[in-house]
Amino acid sequence: MSRPKILLTRCWPAEVHRYLSDRYDVTLNDQDKIPGPDELRAALRSYDAVCPTVTDKLTADILEAGKGKVKILGNYGVGVSHIDLEACKRLGIVVTNTPDVLTEPTADIALLLMLMIARGGGAGEREVRTGKWPGWGPMRNLGSDVTGKTLGLIGFGRIGQATARKAHHGFGMRVLYYARRRADSQVEAQTGAVHRESLDQLVAEADFLSLHCPGGAQNRHLIDARRLSQMKKSAFLINTARGEVVDESALAEALRNGTIAGAGLDVYEHEPRVTQALLGLENVVLLPHLGSATLETRTAMGMRVARNIDSFFAGSPPPDRVA
Ligand code: 8YV
Repeated sequence: MSRPKILLTRCWPAEVHRYLSDRYDVTLNDQDKIPGPDELRAALRSYDAVCPTVTDKLTADILEAGKGKVKILGNYGVGVSHIDLEACKRLGIVVTNTPDVLTEPTADIALLLMLMIARGGGAGEREVRTGKWPGWGPMRNLGSDVTGKTLGLIGFGRIGQATARKAHHGFGMRVLYYARRRADSQVEAQTGAVHRESLDQLVAEADFLSLHCPGGAQNRHLIDARRLSQMKKSAFLINTARGEVVDESALAEALRNGTIAGAGLDVYEHEPRVTQALLGLENVVLLPHLGSATLETRTAMGMRVARNIDSFFAGSPPPDRVA
């Protein structure tokens, strides 16, 4: 029997390339060239499995090209808002993701952003590198405390919970969360997080408001000018979830006019483009979508995709099926 044809749309860690190449007829992307819409259409038409990433926008119109050919999309990443899941269901395309393996490193980045923005890590580093640091001064480079402050989490899945645990046990933070479903009491006890019924209340109480909800249409611009104005003037917004959850222009305005104190972003509305107005501001830390960016994690993500592909082609249900 011929081996299933698999396409990786981007370059993955060598260990995963080897694993998949031993088992399947795999097309790798060693040059790491990002496929455009036509290349994605062609791929869906000719491969049994396509393994996309967040940089591949798989809209209904593009997915239609794969009708009757592509059987599974093994997404490399946990977030799937770049894939039209409803269209996949309609077309009979199975979709899987990679939960668990990137939980801790992504939560680490949320903490990194909190520390960087509150303690002036970004602005301070720029000062040193550009030779503008005049030296230590009692009233220079002053930030705000992180330890002991109140962290409000929007979304309380794996990454939200890991962020709560690190913030509460590592930094003595008071942690509040808002989520569609309340977590069970054991999770609340382990993470030290307290549920808030009302999003308005959570937003108003937080010194740090950190986003851990899915992206996509359902949460688009959840954080808009109105919500930003509900935050404390001294508060910081942290986004390691998806760019579209925040109205970037409204955020730039809120940072410029002092509605909130600062923001730390790892994700953007139109990656890799960043709203121009943010680039000139000192009170925002901008990271290049680093959530899962460690070699260990990227390898584990690839092996998680492989596990799903293996199950699927062995005729078993893939463990991380999302559509
Ligand atoms: C991934 C992420 O690297 O897993 C996710 O949802 O946001 C990132 O950490 C990216 O999605 C790769 O496709």
